Amino acid sequence: MSTHELKVKYEKLVASFVDSETTTRREFIEKSFNAVFDLIDEAEKGSFYELQDDFYVPTLSIGYDFETLKKLKFSAKDAFIDFESTDDQLIDSYEVHIKKREDAAFSLDTIATFKALGTYENFRSLYAPVKLGKKKVGLICLENFSNLSFSRNSKLLLRLFAQQYSNIFTLKYYKDLSDQKLENVVKVLIKAIELKDEYTSGHANRVQEISVMLAGAMGLSTERIITLSTAALLHDVGKIGISTEILNKPNRLTELEFNQIKMHPGNAKKILDEIDGFDEICHYTYCHHEYYDGSGYPRGLKHNEIPIESQIIQLADAYDAMTSDRSYRKKFTHQEAIRLIIAQRGKQFNPDLVDLLLDLRLEA
Ligand SMILES: [Fe+2]
Repeated sequence: MSTHELKVKYEKLVASFVDSETTTRREFIEKSFNAVFDLIDEAEKGSFYELQDDFYVPTLSIGYDFETLKKLKFSAKDAFIDFESTDDQLIDSYEVHIKKREDAAFSLDTIATFKALGTYENFRSLYAPVKLGKKKVGLICLENFSNLSFSRNSKLLLRLFAQQYSNIFTLKYYKDLSDQKLENVVKVLIKAIELKDEYTSGHANRVQEISVMLAGAMGLSTERIITLSTAALLHDVGKIGISTEILNKPNRLTELEFNQIKMHPGNAKKILDEIDGFDEICHYTYCHHEYYDGSGYPRGLKHNEIPIESQIIQLADAYDAMTSDRSYRKKFTHQEAIRLIIAQRGKQFNPDLVDLLLDLRLEA
């Protein structure tokens, strides 16, 4: 392999990581494993193992019958392939030449599986660990059955790949973990509102559902829909700061009481401002009572001044509120709610969103 060829391959390797931030962990694993397989000329078959409960189990393969490969499972301590690296060592790639498996080291079933896969004798394997921080959590294996040694450049490419792959894998792992934590924070906040305001139970989920439908009909990107979805779920989080008597009052609210209710978007802002990475969610929630014609609260924004996400939440919120029983009135039918919403088309609500809502056929 010439220096030029190596350069081209290295560039391809780097390119295979380009959109790794936006892909899921699974898509990332599949895409990069296929990419490295294509880069290593001597690789005829390949498999990817992940550590699950102290066992390396195959989760991907190229060229092998995966149903057969799945029968293999190796303890992290047992040397399936000699692991020369320790946790502290930098990631490297290793080549082994298996002339014949040591029968005594494996069960009869495993030997039979090796034979079925063609990995019982006479092949070479180039492998490298995948690390999460310092801990080995996976194994990339590439096999050659033509008695061909892996070149120095192939070893170098696999090493560079495994290093870069492990870095991104680690970042993704911790990002998933932090997303999970945020999700738990969201759940706790929802629980807190539900305990406070009995009517809200189920309401947040329905507003979320209708908002996502409207956003999908509008053609918003998946990323924006995900953010909107969380904002919709949390839209009334600020009610935590409003007295329970006012929230559940069976009669009409006095002006003073209504002024209290009007504080909930501002309260939401104060709460959600505290969460890192929630800037947009906080903003959408803060604006969910602004009306299209500028007659809403807290700031009297109008038209494009109101984020479309907030306009969506507002319409979804209004529809669900109208079609649910409230402490002070019985629910409206779908037809009655739609009539009320159409009457507010271009006033309280964005006219385009009203049209989209009509197309959703929510009564079904
Ligand atoms: Fe609200």
